[in-house]
Amino acid sequence: MQTNELESIVDSARQAFARAAAPADLENAKALFLGKSGRITELMKGMAALSVDEKKSRGAAINLAKQAIEAALNGRRQALADRELDAQLKAEALDVSLPGRLREPGSVHPVSLTLERIERIFASMGFDVADGPEIESDWHSFTSLNNPPNHPARSMQDTFYVDINGDDGIPYNLRPHTSPMQVRYAHQHIKKHAGKPTMPEIRVIAPGRTYRVDSDATHSPMFHQCEGLWLGENVSFKDLKVVFTDFCRTFFESDDLALRFRPSFFPFTEPSAEIDIQFQTGPLAGRWLEVAGSGQVHPTVVGNMGLDPERYIGFAFGMGPDRLTMLRYGVNDLRLFFDGDIRFLSQFR
Ligand code: DAH
Repeated sequence: MQTNELESIVDSARQAFARAAAPADLENAKALFLGKSGRITELMKGMAALSVDEKKSRGAAINLAKQAIEAALNGRRQALADRELDAQLKAEALDVSLPGRLREPGSVHPVSLTLERIERIFASMGFDVADGPEIESDWHSFTSLNNPPNHPARSMQDTFYVDINGDDGIPYNLRPHTSPMQVRYAHQHIKKHAGKPTMPEIRVIAPGRTYRVDSDATHSPMFHQCEGLWLGENVSFKDLKVVFTDFCRTFFESDDLALRFRPSFFPFTEPSAEIDIQFQTGPLAGRWLEVAGSGQVHPTVVGNMGLDPERYIGFAFGMGPDRLTMLRYGVNDLRLFFDGDIRFLSQFR
């Protein structure tokens, strides 16, 4: 009778635990049997009136029932915890068959590759590499370079102006060429050698960004130029030919490259020449392609540098690194360089 009663309590505890679908339900079910006024606890309390012998046997039987209920409780606890973990693992599962998000290596911009190349080649010929401001004074961009006051380059149709006036009352411009670097560098150079018995040669290139009001397949409002200047007491047009021919052959990695110096005009050189190159092989073979302007530095410009034009002579050139990049890689639209399209840029990796 007693045993049956205990068995049925154990049975109903097992059933209640089995019905508990969540840990909170299970704790509530536990309270019904093992809690302060649970079934087992009540039975224990009821033993107070029994004799010592009865207490012993009855107590042992209740303890066994209690242990069975605790075992059932622990089993169910474990089962619920396992189920929760399973669900969590399933929810956080990684699909290892999905393709990953690839981070591709970046690359140096093709024009930057060209600028690095130009700098390396001219450095190997003893040229310094100089940098200068992109917002220039009217005097540096034009006047110092012997541009007459009404020269078309000074017009707003050709040159961008900034809303800030220089000391001369004329607005600053976004430099339309790197040529202002000729006079700027000469001034720096002279300052550096002030007080010394001899003033060494000036041999420098100045690559950088330049700006003009112009935009189509071969013109961009922002583009690049690289200025070159070699001044000394005995520097001639012959030196320009040697240096520039050497540069072109190294740059294009081709010894059978022809060069042509075609008479031209620039206010800051006299005589002036346009430099054309001709490839003997490849898709551009046979065509003359203009790559630079050049000439012997005009005495007025030498004077503006603070040097004696009777003593100092030399040559300057200005070339377009964007155009050199187009020729080297066979690119036919300048705008591709500045669109930021990864499909184009990744080809230079
Ligand atoms: N500054 C000229 C231009 O932008 C290019 C140039 C021509 C630079 C002749 C020179 C030079 O140094 O000697 O068109």
